[in-house]
Amino acid sequence: MTETISSLHTRVEGGCDKTNLSKMLRPECYIDEHWFERELQTIHFPAWHFACLSTSLPNVGSFVSRRFLERSVIVVRSEDGIIRAFLNTCRHRGAPLTSESCGKNAYFRCPFHKWSYDTFGNLTSAPGLGGSVKRSDLKKLDLNLVPIQCEAVAGLVFINLNKENEMPLEVYLGNYIDKVALPHQTQRMHCVQEKSYALTTNWKLYIEVDMETLHTNFVHSRSIGSQPVKPVEHDRNWFGVYHQNSLSPALFPEKRNLAFPTPRDVIGEAAEGTHFSVILPGFFIVTAPEVMWWIQKTPISATRTSVNVGYAFHDETLARHDFNEIAPHYFERLDQVILEDDQICEYQLEGLSNRVRGHFTPVEPVAAYFSELIETRLLEAGYE
Ligand code: FES
Ligand SMILES: [Fe+2]
Repeated sequence: MTETISSLHTRVEGGCDKTNLSKMLRPECYIDEHWFERELQTIHFPAWHFACLSTSLPNVGSFVSRRFLERSVIVVRSEDGIIRAFLNTCRHRGAPLTSESCGKNAYFRCPFHKWSYDTFGNLTSAPGLGGSVKRSDLKKLDLNLVPIQCEAVAGLVFINLNKENEMPLEVYLGNYIDKVALPHQTQRMHCVQEKSYALTTNWKLYIEVDMETLHTNFVHSRSIGSQPVKPVEHDRNWFGVYHQNSLSPALFPEKRNLAFPTPRDVIGEAAEGTHFSVILPGFFIVTAPEVMWWIQKTPISATRTSVNVGYAFHDETLARHDFNEIAPHYFERLDQVILEDDQICEYQLEGLSNRVRGHFTPVEPVAAYFSELIETRLLEAGYE
C-alpha cells in the first residue's frame, strides 16, 4: 500500500532538505495508449463514478444520461422512488433510447422503431412483434434494459460499470461522507448549472492541478491568489485538502463580501473552510460553506479527457430573494478559474510529449501522493 497523504506531508514538511523533489509518473503514463488501457482496466472500470445529484432527479421519470468510458448510461428515478441506472441502448437493434442529457419521461421510447421501456427498464411495447403481444409474453423474451449498479449517499448518485463489483458505495467512499459530505449538507444541494466538454489533456494532469495550490498564485493570480491548504485525514478511495477561509473562495477576491451566508446546519470545519476532495478516479468535488462545485474528469483516451462541470447551492440559498442577483458573481468566478485550469492542463501536455520526466516540489505533496497512488495500484495489478 502507498503511504497516506499525512505521512507523506510530514515527511516532506519535516525534512531539512527543502529541495527534496519527488518524481512525477513517467511521461508515457500521460501519453501512451498502452498505459491508458492498463489504467482503464485497473482503475476506471472497477470504480464508482459520480452521475448526478439526487435532487437532479426530483420526480418519477426524471432522468439524466451520461457517458462513462465509452458507455452511455441513463440514470432515472423509477416509479417506486428508487434511482436506477441502465445502459442507454435499445434491446431491439441497439439505438440509444435518448440523446437528451436530462429530462422527464413516463417511459423511454426508442426513436428508431418505438420499442418502449418503463422506468424499471422493463420492455413494455415492441413493434415488429405484433401489436397484441401481452406484457407477460414480453417479459419472457428477457429484453429489458441492461441494468448498471447505481447507489446514492448524501445526495450524491454514483454508478458502477463493473458487474463483478462487490464494494458498496458507502464502503468505497470511506470517511468522505461523515467527514465532508454530511457536514457540508450535500444532500440539500441543487445543481444550477452544468456543462460538459472535452480537453486535449491526460485526466491525471487535471487531478494533479486540483490538488496543489502552488499554481494558484500564477495561473489564478487574479481569480484566486494565494490559497494555503492542508491535507485531510482520509481513507479508502478519496483524499483531499482543506482551506480555512473567513471569506468565500468561490468569488473573485474583490467580491468576497457578496457571498451568500452559510446555510443552517453547516457547522464546524464545514462552516469555516472549504474541502477540495478527489473521489477516485476523477471526481473533483469542492464543498465551501455556501456553495459546491465539481469537475468530473472521465478519460476518453490517454490524451483526451471528458469534463463535466457542475455548480450547486443549498435549498435555502436557492430560495433567497437575491439569489439571481448574486449567483452570477459565483458563475463568473468559477467559469474563469476552470477555464484557466483547462488551458494550463492542455498546455502542460504539449511539453510532456517530449517525454522528459517532471517533478513535484515539497509544497505539492497531495499531487505527489496521487501520482504514487496510481503507480502503486498498477504495480499491485502486476503492471510495471
Ligand atoms: S433499435 Fe430501438 S426500436 Fe429498433
Ligand atoms: Fe487551478
